Amino acid sequence: MKDITVIGAGTMGNGIAHVFAMKGFQVKLVDVSETALQKAISTISANLDRMVTKEKITTAEKENTLANLSTFTSFDHSANADLVVEAATENMSLKLKIFTELDQLCNPNTILATNTSSISITKIAAATKRPDKVIGMHFMNPVPVMKLVEVIRGYATSDETTKTIMALSAQLDKIPVEVNDYPGFVANRILMPMINEAIYTLYENVAGVNEIDTVMKLGMAHPMGPLQLADFIGLDVCLSILHVLHDGFGNPKYAPCPLLTNMVTAGYLGVKSGEGFYKYEAGIKELIVSGRFNK
Ligand code: CAA
Repeated sequence: MKDITVIGAGTMGNGIAHVFAMKGFQVKLVDVSETALQKAISTISANLDRMVTKEKITTAEKENTLANLSTFTSFDHSANADLVVEAATENMSLKLKIFTELDQLCNPNTILATNTSSISITKIAAATKRPDKVIGMHFMNPVPVMKLVEVIRGYATSDETTKTIMALSAQLDKIPVEVNDYPGFVANRILMPMINEAIYTLYENVAGVNEIDTVMKLGMAHPMGPLQLADFIGLDVCLSILHVLHDGFGNPKYAPCPLLTNMVTAGYLGVKSGEGFYKYEAGIKELIVSGRFNK
């Protein structure tokens, strides 16, 4: 494999493009927005600078990585890609449309992967005529730092496709873990109920934001507490994954906490909107609990 297309230049897409380009793959980064593409390249460049400063890579490696990246506003140039990794907005109809079009455009050998955090791989694969070559490649944020790739086999994904993607993930210096396609896969089936329970713990006034996160950071050695992590992931994303779990299993244990639903409805989405359980101000690294919870 050498020719990779990454669709979507947001946080996950730019991280995925970064790690492939750093390992010498030729990466076409595709987004409908030229502004998003420019922002992605400057984010990748800043993250590479951080790695240069920490002496993890040399300046030459940074330059080579950037030279391996090209940007496009459509995937018309990706017909001969060895692999396409889709990391577009988490929206079912958009993903089905992208996969139908990719299937028509791409060489029959191209593997089509999705970075979805919760949409059924089996359903996405069924929109194509190559369901054996459709697979989940679920990277974690921040992609250049996190070691895991959750490799999700749809119902019809072949052994050959799975083996290729497991080996490719290892080539990126990641640790791939193979799982089957059921709601939330493994990562979010376990993570989201924990986050939801932390929100219930706050909602029921058992403890404050800082206290809940401190218990989990110091007591369980989590790098971030669950409420900070929810802000980092995006409260809208957490809510949408909980809906997938709730609908997919029909089990009330996955019902989202009403506080989470209210916060999303009101636009308090965490880091990306500037406020969630914490308040985020440009240039301030210290964690400040949102005034709403800081009584
Ligand atoms: N790109 C490259 N490097 C980055 C980076 C980025 N975007 N962000 C941080 N880093 C590097 C830093 O350079 C630093 O490197 P060193 O260890 O060599 O010094 C390291 O990561 C740690 O960074 P910081 O010291 O700035 O900050 P930190 O110690 O607080 O760590 C963190 C930040 C890595 C994000 C850490 O808090 C963490 O691991 N948090 C949990 C992340 C997590 O759980 N992610 C999964 C979310 S779920 C998901 O993604 C999937 C889903 O479907 C919802």
